[in-house]
Amino acid sequence: MTEHLILNDGHSLPEIGFGTYPLRGDDGYRAIRSALDAGYRLIDSARNYRNEEEVGRAIRDFLKESGTPRAEVMVQTKIPGRHHEHDAAIASGKESLALMGLDYIDVLLIHWPNPITGKYLEAWRALVELREQGVARTIGTSNFTADHLAAIIDDSGVTPAINQIELHPYFTQEAMRAEHERLGIRTQSWSPLGKASAPYEEPAVADAAARHDVTPAQVILRWHIQLGSVPLPKSGNAERQAENLDVFDFDLSDQEVSAISSLTRAAGRLFDGDPDTHEEM
Ligand SMILES: NC(=O)c1ccc[n+]([C@@H]2O[C@H](COP(=O)([O-])OP(=O)(O)OC[C@H]3O[C@@H](n4cnc5c(N)ncnc54)[C@H](OP(=O)(O)O)[C@@H]3O)[C@@H](O)[C@H]2O)c1
Repeated sequence: MTEHLILNDGHSLPEIGFGTYPLRGDDGYRAIRSALDAGYRLIDSARNYRNEEEVGRAIRDFLKESGTPRAEVMVQTKIPGRHHEHDAAIASGKESLALMGLDYIDVLLIHWPNPITGKYLEAWRALVELREQGVARTIGTSNFTADHLAAIIDDSGVTPAINQIELHPYFTQEAMRAEHERLGIRTQSWSPLGKASAPYEEPAVADAAARHDVTPAQVILRWHIQLGSVPLPKSGNAERQAENLDVFDFDLSDQEVSAISSLTRAAGRLFDGDPDTHEEM
């Protein structure tokens, strides 16, 4: 199973997590519960996914029924762009915790910098306070550029532990990954499979899948892990959930990793103020 990666704040993170957008309601609860049963130990949510209640309930039920210690399951959520003012950000983190019905949030991220309002420095200072108050154990960002990261680090003196960015074979984010490496920030990959345009049929992916007797999706997730980025694949289907987790019994060669990386195109679907596609920010 998965190893744990050590973050810059001393906490650890599984090498793969489970994406939960747009899982919600009873079907969402069942899918998240099934992911926990399959072995996922990092669940990625957000206020904007409107599923923190379902995520929290699935985790609580799983812990109770399986006897798994709370410390073995990590929940991650994100404060939205409309909650960046200091007091709103503090309230938002606390509301997320209340919605989930847990004793603490393992990882709390700023969902996106929302540069038009320009309040992400305040939001970051609020996250630092929420960590001091024990509401969240690890804090980080999502969709932050190198300039946004530099600004919050300069302002607060606190480096995020994680920056979650769009990353897949068509958008390999080399410059951001290098910046994260330089700053000691762990990269997480959103839309790790490429979602709408998954490169399953690209020879670099399909040939590696045939050579290792795995599926194209497994090759892509393994590529993320070998890059050192934590992929957060979403699947509402129990078989694909298990498939996506079963990526620890083979290694891609350096040539295979490079061939997949060379699929990158000029631009990804990088957020334009709407990172999770159609949710109110
Ligand atoms: N921070 C941000 O701004 C941001 C933005 C977007 C996403 N995210 C996070 O990242 C997570 C993942 O991103 P995503 O959902 O956009 O993309 P993704 O995980 O790359 O792709 C999900 C799609 O792939 C399908 N799929 C999953 N496993 C598969 C497999 N083994 N074979 C074939 N198809 C497979 C799923 O369908 P089925 O469900 O039918 O299996 C779904 O249609 C989200 O759930 C969310 O947690 C964050």
